[in-house]
Amino acid sequence: MADIINGKELAKNIRQNLKGEVDKLKKNGICPKLAVIMVGDDKASKVYVKNKSKACEEIGIDYEEFLMEEDITINQLLDLIENLNNRKDIHGILLQSPIPKHLDINKAFSKIDYRKDVDGFNPINVGKLSIGEDCFVSCTPFGIVKMLEEYNIDVQGKNVVIIGRSNIVGKPLIQCMLKKNGTVTICHSKTENIKKITADADILISAIGKAKFVTQDMVKNGAVIIDVGINRNNEGKIVGDVDFENVEKKASYITPVPGGVGPMTVAMLMENVVKAAKNMEK
Ligand code: GUN
Repeated sequence: MADIINGKELAKNIRQNLKGEVDKLKKNGICPKLAVIMVGDDKASKVYVKNKSKACEEIGIDYEEFLMEEDITINQLLDLIENLNNRKDIHGILLQSPIPKHLDINKAFSKIDYRKDVDGFNPINVGKLSIGEDCFVSCTPFGIVKMLEEYNIDVQGKNVVIIGRSNIVGKPLIQCMLKKNGTVTICHSKTENIKKITADADILISAIGKAKFVTQDMVKNGAVIIDVGINRNNEGKIVGDVDFENVEKKASYITPVPGGVGPMTVAMLMENVVKAAKNMEK
């Protein structure tokens, strides 16, 4: 039976520490503030954004939401971002994805001032991450790194297999795991014989968005399993990518869904907002 990596508890501790840091910043006259932009009416996004605003409130970070109509033009979105870039009271800007298809999300991410890009999606931060410079790291990969560190799980020399190549999770994770001296393999929808690759993983990270995609036969005995998936099963329950009940029997560590990677993502966003506010103080 695997040890369960308790992301919920870890995230709570991180938020508590951050509250202390925010209190200190406030004594120096700085109140960290996050601006969140949402375009359209995506149901899942609404839940994620609510979690982010709740975390801000708990820690004492100011929060402002910008809800844009589904049919806005790219120029309207870029103008809003420009406006937020110029506002001195705002330290972090987050554009919740997905956004409607007629809007070029990369154009929008590129417009966010990289010093306020708390999601780490601006190409400057993406590039800095790949050359090992200090930057904002995308929150889910950052949260996974933190979880592994907190549980003293060593990445050096290990076979790390990532399933999923999104710009938000899979690709930045490659850099994060390389930085930890892991031997990294990335699998995706066109990968052939995926089982052969995952069965060799010491650390298996799934971010593919398919319930029960990772089955027991795909996993090596004693592997560490990190489940980034957030899916709804037939009963409407939130589940990850991993067939938890069966994989847990074979793994050494495993993250649950919910209560694993999700709360860590939000906690790392909070950490990035505090970092942005501190950077501006310098
Ligand atoms: N959509 C799904 N995950 C994320 C995230 O981490 N950040 C943003 N901005 N949008 C998302």
